[in-house]
Amino acid sequence: MIKFSEDQLMIMDLAREIAEENIKPLASKYDQEEKFPWESVKQLQELGFMGMMVEEEYDGTGLDTICYALAMEEISKACASTGVTMSVNNSLYAYPVQKYGTAEQKEEFLRPIVSKKIGAFALSESDAGSDPASMRTTALKNKDGYVINGSKMWITNGGVADNFIVFAKTDSQKGHKGISAFIMNKDDKGLKIGAEEKKLGIKASSTTPLSFDECLIPENRLLGDLGEGFKIAMNTLNGGRIGIASQAIGIGQAAIESAKKYMVERHAFGGPIAKFQGLQFMMADSVMEIEAAKALTLKAASMKDRGERFVKEAAMAKLYSSEAAVRAADRSLQIHGGAGYSKDFPVERYWRDAKITAIYEGTSEILRVVIARETLGRY
Ligand code: CAA
Repeated sequence: MIKFSEDQLMIMDLAREIAEENIKPLASKYDQEEKFPWESVKQLQELGFMGMMVEEEYDGTGLDTICYALAMEEISKACASTGVTMSVNNSLYAYPVQKYGTAEQKEEFLRPIVSKKIGAFALSESDAGSDPASMRTTALKNKDGYVINGSKMWITNGGVADNFIVFAKTDSQKGHKGISAFIMNKDDKGLKIGAEEKKLGIKASSTTPLSFDECLIPENRLLGDLGEGFKIAMNTLNGGRIGIASQAIGIGQAAIESAKKYMVERHAFGGPIAKFQGLQFMMADSVMEIEAAKALTLKAASMKDRGERFVKEAAMAKLYSSEAAVRAADRSLQIHGGAGYSKDFPVERYWRDAKITAIYEGTSEILRVVIARETLGRY
């Protein structure tokens, strides 16, 4: 197991403290009211957690991916909706602007993202989720800039974001090499943010569609090179998967803690239900699997920090962690019996929140494809 540095330990402790004291007490209320957790997100902005890996030159905290993974875990353990908001801002918005943006773009679109503004990543469409190369949104160049037409779906942070990274086809003849990335403002003329989706879980997070109707943006909003959009999206999602793996681990840990408390407190057949081996085995499996998920995730994070290729490791971390979290939440609910099925206990929320981690930023099926391709190479 990794030996954490002083910085990493300090970030973990800080994240745990704020999560336990300030974020966790609000989570159930925000979930039930399906209200964006502004109070929690504002605290993360104040601490710099919304731009943890942004260079200090741009007002970020310049921390490494391990710090980010550890913080994501603690925050998501308290509130998975706050967790995904933080993850998208860090991994899917700040990262590509920092890596591919010009100095001018970073000044305008990266600097404010740490503590003032919120970002989102618009890749998926109603007919292009797992297969983003088949997107239909277009960006056609004219003398004034690019004109965007089309629509996007499942945009996390959609209803609260100030800025979006939008992927669109700039050349319909070139397949994935004809996709480019653009930075957009929420008030760009022709951009419409749709109504909030009604979801099974992460109900307090914002998820909306977007539509673009003859939306003209200046040429300097192109992020990276023309035709580089698919590569930007894939490289961004590799890092994003570490964030979602950490979110899943946090949810899994919350489910385990809930089960542990219930097993000790609840009595049946003359003693605490913790004495039953059937339930002990469930607990053992969950603890072991979440620990294994953490090892995979920290391995991917440390490889990213060392500048090594981590495509397969991030896919394995996200796939394993999300499925382990789904199992841990399911076992925890079962251990709680009828109580677990009611809103009096948080475990039904963990059960609902865990499921999305096996779907967004690459479904389990797509991640198996990624792992197999990375293993087999070209043949
Ligand atoms: N990392 C880096 N490069 C990658 C890559 C990766 N993970 N996956 C593919 N590429 C590169 C390939 O090497 C190839 O490069 P060249 O052009 O240099 O040859 C190029 O991309 C095209 O690759 P493929 O031919 O393999 O592309 P494909 O169309 O067959 O798709 C895929 C591959 C793995 C299925 C990919 O489409 C994929 O990852 N799909 C899932 C998309 C996804 O995760 N969507 C989540 C939506 S975002 C979201 O959920 C946001 C939110 O708000 C929470």
